[in-house]
Amino acid sequence: MERKVEVFDDDVTEAEIAVHLREEGYYHAPPKFIAQANLTDPDIFKRFSLENFPECFKEYADLLTWSKYWEKTLDTSNAPFWRWFVGGKLNACYNCVDRHLEKHRNKAAIHFVPEIESEPIIHMTYQELFMRVNELAAFLRNFCGLKTGDRVTLHMPMVAELPITMLACARIGVIHSQVFSGFSGRAVVDRMIDSGSDILITMDGYYRNGVLQNHKGQADVACEHAHEHDFNIEKVLIWQRHPGTYSSKRPLVEGRDFIINDMLKHYHHTTIDPVQMSAEAPLFLMYTSGTTGKPKGCQHSTGGYLAYAAGTARIVQDIHPEDVYWCMADIGWITGHTYIVYGPLALGASTVIYEGVPTYPDAGRPWRIAEELGVNIFHTSPTAIRALRRSGPDEPKKHNYHFKHMTTVGEPIEPEVWKWYYEVVGKGEAVIVDTWWQTETGGVLCSTVPGLHPMKPGTAGPGMPGIHVVIYDEDGNEIPRGANRAGNICIRNPWPGIFQTIWGDSERFVKSYYAHYNKKEKSTDWRDWPYFASDGAVQTEDGYYRILGRIDDVINVAGHRLGSKEIESAALTVDEVAEAAVVPVADEIKGRIPDLYVALKPGFQPSHELEQRISAAVVSEISPIARPRRVWIVPDMPKTRSGKIMRRVLAAISSGSDTGDVSTLANPEIVAELRKMANP
Ligand code: WTA
Repeated sequence: MERKVEVFDDDVTEAEIAVHLREEGYYHAPPKFIAQANLTDPDIFKRFSLENFPECFKEYADLLTWSKYWEKTLDTSNAPFWRWFVGGKLNACYNCVDRHLEKHRNKAAIHFVPEIESEPIIHMTYQELFMRVNELAAFLRNFCGLKTGDRVTLHMPMVAELPITMLACARIGVIHSQVFSGFSGRAVVDRMIDSGSDILITMDGYYRNGVLQNHKGQADVACEHAHEHDFNIEKVLIWQRHPGTYSSKRPLVEGRDFIINDMLKHYHHTTIDPVQMSAEAPLFLMYTSGTTGKPKGCQHSTGGYLAYAAGTARIVQDIHPEDVYWCMADIGWITGHTYIVYGPLALGASTVIYEGVPTYPDAGRPWRIAEELGVNIFHTSPTAIRALRRSGPDEPKKHNYHFKHMTTVGEPIEPEVWKWYYEVVGKGEAVIVDTWWQTETGGVLCSTVPGLHPMKPGTAGPGMPGIHVVIYDEDGNEIPRGANRAGNICIRNPWPGIFQTIWGDSERFVKSYYAHYNKKEKSTDWRDWPYFASDGAVQTEDGYYRILGRIDDVINVAGHRLGSKEIESAALTVDEVAEAAVVPVADEIKGRIPDLYVALKPGFQPSHELEQRISAAVVSEISPIARPRRVWIVPDMPKTRSGKIMRRVLAAISSGSDTGDVSTLANPEIVAELRKMANP
């Protein structure tokens, strides 16, 4: 049965695209999974009911080791700046490393899988992780003078040195801000300036599609770009991808660039005590895209974040200490922070870090890795699943691995793709969780609990324990379950994983996430401050949530969050460009990709060369992941009478769908002209 869901907002883009809902049937977890699952007690939802809020979250906090136990679960006196586990002290590195030594000293904490298949896999025990983290922490503190509360920017690829660096920062209370390695040096600098961090930690190179990337080159770009902004990057600390060998052709700049592997020789076997941090101390910043051009630094806490990471990794990912867990995401995004590093390591599991592209050198690679390491929990994105399904639909069958559990995250997954994941990748033996959450939320918000709820392809599931979800229409009326209408998905209550603020911009924090449905401006009652997620969603009769996508100007490209405004600003760095507008178009593999429309300043003529130059500007300002599908140089943008560019009309042109009524535009005649251009 195909049903059409009404969408209320005229400006929505993503939600409009994904409005055809087909009800899928349930799939049930195999008894073998249930028999060993961490959570099969349905009472958890009673324990985490709103009557028991916020005390219920003690259950998550108690998964951690506190050097000083907390006194107050939740302080709302400065709403919506929530303070969790007030009075408590702990160290995140201690919780992820030291405390496991007694039982698991000799167990693999990290399996690092290089992209080049002939390079051996590195199995790093908890003891070794402990040593490496301590040495680096000592170096950062003693040589770089870093201290509690300082910010450090990381621009590191998917290597074991990345979690080592994050944990070393956490050990001394330094706030890390890892920027996705695929971002350009220029994008790195914007984030360094915003966070006030003048030390950059990077790596000389890393492998992607079999090619050793000159990653140090990006650090040089960053330093040059910093100068243009009168900002000085004081130190560039460089890990060697091949220890003992410098893999970049770029020269080292005396007094600025230091090879970490050389420097660490002075810190051999140095251990330093973990600094006990207040539960409220920031653990890291994670920059993400929003509606305005400037990326925002989401600030996550130590106690609340780590408790939520551990609690959800245990409940949703079903991680036990004996599991081999592989999340094939990038640590440069929140998924990697929570579910490659902090969640699994807090639980004492073995976490796999794969350097490269899932389909390198062929679509059988992930399944060979799974077989080789005995991976039993697998976690990835719909984009990766779609790519593997297209390039090697029968590959999983050829490999002798067995997953008990699989996760999907980051984008909606089409039921057809879900079924391939279930039947072919999971061999019908593994449960699937479709987890909906965001950079801001620290951990999963909606998902089935695999030992409790049946799965439904294409649908995330109910709210997690303690996450009380509500869908509001534009006027703040609740849309009841089963109403078959989409609305804005919100969370009624705070939870420990929620980010604390936007670094340096608390006003924007309140405005973007809480002002929308705030009931009383000065209220200190959390009930007055629903969290506004910026996603459209529908709740079906059974209480499951189906996420339709962003209602703001964020485009989700292959699960990477990009701001339309960021891409538009990049296009505007090209002299000839007067106006730019970006819209998402559907893509078979990546879900969505950006289409870029530009209008030129008077006196300039369109040309293929100019299109290419604009596209190149987007890549160098942001990243190859932001590369537009096409640059359309147009004579004019469709505009409202007040001069606002109608992105909705452009989106319809790009996707070849109906533009609807355009008669109210200031220049309706342009629509036919653009349509002709796009579909000659
Ligand atoms: C989207 C990633 C559908 C959503 C953890 C959200 C999803 C944005 C899902 C956040 C899902 C995430 N189904 N859509 N299971 N998970 N999204 O901050 O639009 O990189 O707002 O966090 O991804 O992306 P972010």
